[in-house]
Amino acid sequence: MINVISKKRYILHLLILMLALALISAGCNELLNQDVAEPDEEAEEPLNEEIPEPVSEPTVPEEGPEPENSDEPSDEPVPHTPDNNDSEEPSLPVISDGDYLLALVTKETTLKSDYVPSDLRTVPEYLSPAYSMQLRADALEQLELLWNAAAYDGVMLKIRSAYRSYNTQKGLFQDYANRYGEEEANRFSARAGQSEHQLGTTVDFGGTSVDLKAAFADTLQGQWLKENAHYFGFAMSYPAGKEHITGYIFEPWHYRYIGIEAAAEWKASGETLREYLETKSQHYD
Ligand code: DAL
Ligand code: ZN
Repeated sequence: MINVISKKRYILHLLILMLALALISAGCNELLNQDVAEPDEEAEEPLNEEIPEPVSEPTVPEEGPEPENSDEPSDEPVPHTPDNNDSEEPSLPVISDGDYLLALVTKETTLKSDYVPSDLRTVPEYLSPAYSMQLRADALEQLELLWNAAAYDGVMLKIRSAYRSYNTQKGLFQDYANRYGEEEANRFSARAGQSEHQLGTTVDFGGTSVDLKAAFADTLQGQWLKENAHYFGFAMSYPAGKEHITGYIFEPWHYRYIGIEAAAEWKASGETLREYLETKSQHYD
């Protein structure tokens, strides 16, 4: 009898001991779990990370309206072709001096592939350049006056493109040719050596929802420029309905600096810039 009671007690003690061990073990686990760090959601990388601005020449097409029935030009990278094959240059009259403000730049002439304007300056941030850009000193000085005069009239301008090197233009044209075909590209984009942007005196203006499109002409910005740009020495190179003369479709955003006196004379002439420059002496190598 005593043995039976002792056995029961023994089992009871054993059960109590096991329960106690189980409780101690659970308590330890809880304590241990508190030390395991939960993933901290706020510590994740911010989604709105700033994308750095390009610091040198852009790798995206900076101008060119969409040809009819095609998609808007995208921001796809433009292949930059190294300038290592001068034999590809067409045998056209070679402009002696791109620094000459009245140099005629058309599809029938070419700038040298190594021509770089002599006095390029960086376009200041307040003019809202789309990326780091350059222009020749005098053109930039007048552009700043123009920009401020427009702002005074409540017209806010942005700069979409300025100086473009021979190689940048080469990549740009090639990209358009790949996408739209060479013939179509040639209506709105100059080949390397044939762009007024290589002169460092030419600006593509923007600041609207229809930048680089014909509808830019109907915006406050487009109208202000048409009426006032010549006071600051800038001429619209490719007016409407003159493709048969200029070689390019209407580009109401593309202005070239030719000096204040020349711009006044050009405006009074009523001619396209090309016709006006054809009356000035030109120099070829
Ligand atoms: N869009 C003008 C023609 C240029 O490429 O210079
Ligand atoms: Zn342009």
